[in-house]
Amino acid sequence: MRILFIGDIFGHPGRRIVKEFLPALLGEYEPDLVLANGENAAAGFGITPSLVEELLDMGIAVLTSGNHIWDKKEIYTFLNEHSDGRLLRPANYPPGVPGQGVYLGNTRSGFGYAVLNLQGRIFMTPIDCPFRTADDLLAKIPADVKLRIVDMHAEASSEKVSMGWYLDGRVTAVLGTHTHISTADEKVLPGGTAYLTDLGMTGPYDSVIGIDKQTVIQKFLNQLPTRFEVAKGDVRLHAVLIEADPQTGRALSIQRIVRK
Ligand SMILES: [Fe+2]
Repeated sequence: MRILFIGDIFGHPGRRIVKEFLPALLGEYEPDLVLANGENAAAGFGITPSLVEELLDMGIAVLTSGNHIWDKKEIYTFLNEHSDGRLLRPANYPPGVPGQGVYLGNTRSGFGYAVLNLQGRIFMTPIDCPFRTADDLLAKIPADVKLRIVDMHAEASSEKVSMGWYLDGRVTAVLGTHTHISTADEKVLPGGTAYLTDLGMTGPYDSVIGIDKQTVIQKFLNQLPTRFEVAKGDVRLHAVLIEADPQTGRALSIQRIVRK
């Protein structure tokens, strides 16, 4: 069975290219499960309830997120009261914050799956340990749920690579998000876990990680407060396709997919 995971959907250009290319990707690869990171869907900063709905309606089963999940105030009550659980926030935020970091569901062909969302701590908010959180979460997932996909939302490649090795043989995939720069290290680790340090962004590449490049360069030059605008040009979709054995949860292959 196949799982398609779309990298960080950035602003309107990112949402537009998913809408444009996802139907063809569904036709070509026939994935049983489509996942995406949506933390930058709202003009690069956070996501709103209506954008959650918009993306899920395109055929995405579960949206993961990261540090930007808190950017839009209306998402707090959504996560607490209105969500059906298909928008995740990183699981290793302190107890009591809105939302959940795990989703349990069934694929179209009826296999149980779990999506886990974790966030790194290097050059990021010092939240709870993602490694110990992963241990705790995996211990609670029913044994018959073999397909387990982890979004490791982190800045440092060392932390993401470590998570890949740490969870090798215990999950189907560990996929990095957050840096918006696609890495070329996709592989299936010896224990059967598909791994990629960063999926890359689904959004405008004529930019600095999605933002108008001149604004970001100015910010580096003068360090003054700046209003960031979403860039427009060179919009691309970045994703991975994972082939997995649903009986064991082991990944068989992982390939990067780019559309523009
Ligand atoms: Fe992020």
